[in-house]
Amino acid sequence: MSKLFIISNRLPITIEKKGDKLSYRQSSGGLVSAVSAYLDQEGQRTFTKKVWVGVSECSEQEWQTVSDTFTADYDFHPIFAAQKTYDQYYNGFANSVLWPLFHYFPSYADYQPQFFEAYKKINHNFADDLANQLNPEDTVWIHDYHLLPLAALLCKRNPKLTIGLFLHIPFPSYELFRAMPNDWQHEIIEGMLGADLVGFHTNDYRDHFLNCVSKITQAKVQDQIIHLNGRQIKTGAFPIGIDYDQFNSAYNNEGVVAKRNEHLHMKQDKKLIFSVDRLDYTKGVFSRLKGYREFLLQNPGYIGKVIFALVVIPSRDNISRYAERKKIIDEYVGNLNSRFGNIGWQPVVYQYGHLSFDELIALYTACDIALITPLRDGMNLVAKEFVASRKDKRGVLVLSEMAGAADELPEALIINPNDRKEIGDMIRRGLEMPRAEQEDRMAAMQARISSYNVVDWARDFFNRLKDAKAGQLQLREN
Ligand code: F6P
Repeated sequence: MSKLFIISNRLPITIEKKGDKLSYRQSSGGLVSAVSAYLDQEGQRTFTKKVWVGVSECSEQEWQTVSDTFTADYDFHPIFAAQKTYDQYYNGFANSVLWPLFHYFPSYADYQPQFFEAYKKINHNFADDLANQLNPEDTVWIHDYHLLPLAALLCKRNPKLTIGLFLHIPFPSYELFRAMPNDWQHEIIEGMLGADLVGFHTNDYRDHFLNCVSKITQAKVQDQIIHLNGRQIKTGAFPIGIDYDQFNSAYNNEGVVAKRNEHLHMKQDKKLIFSVDRLDYTKGVFSRLKGYREFLLQNPGYIGKVIFALVVIPSRDNISRYAERKKIIDEYVGNLNSRFGNIGWQPVVYQYGHLSFDELIALYTACDIALITPLRDGMNLVAKEFVASRKDKRGVLVLSEMAGAADELPEALIINPNDRKEIGDMIRRGLEMPRAEQEDRMAAMQARISSYNVVDWARDFFNRLKDAKAGQLQLREN
């Protein structure tokens, strides 16, 4: 058996500092819960040792102090980076070039050469740091857009390694990708091709990638396999799932029931619409507010009879595009409330901050509609979490066609996030949907997402990775 290295920008823990005292807690988020669930359930049988590698949030000295208190059944391996370089890699290249471009916001991309240099440097840091730790029989699973060049750096040093790469955000069409300077395009695509298997959430993202590979490199692409310099690189679509049982069984948790009752009491006979997102321009928060406004304008009979609970979670606030979004949303919510509301009723109840798990499930299960309108989203786990949480099979999902999750959830009321009239119409349709139709739609969506949960996702990826590596070795022997 071999060792498994999970590699991502963030480690699955958050280090907290209170005065001189350091402590840590397990982070939340799709990647962490997906990979942790797999490691807990199946990792033991497959790998002798599991190590999670990511950039440390604290200094080397602080790490020494806090690492004594870690109690996970896998090891953490921190990568230390100089603050300025990290900033240019994370806020710069990853989140001000790749993120906007891959989410179809090309005008937001800021192509500063020093960002790309820092991006390469941090990827080299990972590769250099791991050089002495990796043996040829080990498996490496690289995650996301922060580390696209890493597969080739590792493969070059250690060609026998088994390397998987999974992209958690969309891969854009060539017309978007080619907006980057040519040498960046080459380095990114060639970096990704160091993997034995490259995974995406949807077939469309995989096809965009294959098209970029054909246009940018000398590789031959056939049946979704890339042939380059005597190697073959496999590709596939693996739509990430959630821990279905955790969300489904939370319905009756004591804390959830108490909080849900508070919400039900607060809304009385009013309808409740709910949404929760990181503060990100890709999430379409502004579009959904415009759609809600349209709904109120077109359906004055609902004034005073509906509440929109809008939760926005702080994110990446060192980047101006994110900070400016907050101002726009604050202002729009204020306008909406003053235009339609009165002393006894506000159309939007707005929270800018985090929700605990119990609070989240209480809102998922108290609402009549979950309104999810990203302008572009790799997957969107909120949609899946909402569906899984509805043990009562009630509630309606209104979902953007631009979310990867829409492929698996066609029973949602699907909207175009730029069409405020359609959003308004679907809000009305959702609020008036007969109970039997809600149950039918919910049951169909639950059946689908419960049959491919997080552990299935990771297992599927690892099985395909094993095949891909076997094919690669055979090719080398022939
Ligand atoms: O969706 C991509 C992703 O990187 C997720 O893996 C992560 O949970 C989310 O965006 C938040 O990103 P950040 O690490 O920048 O806060």
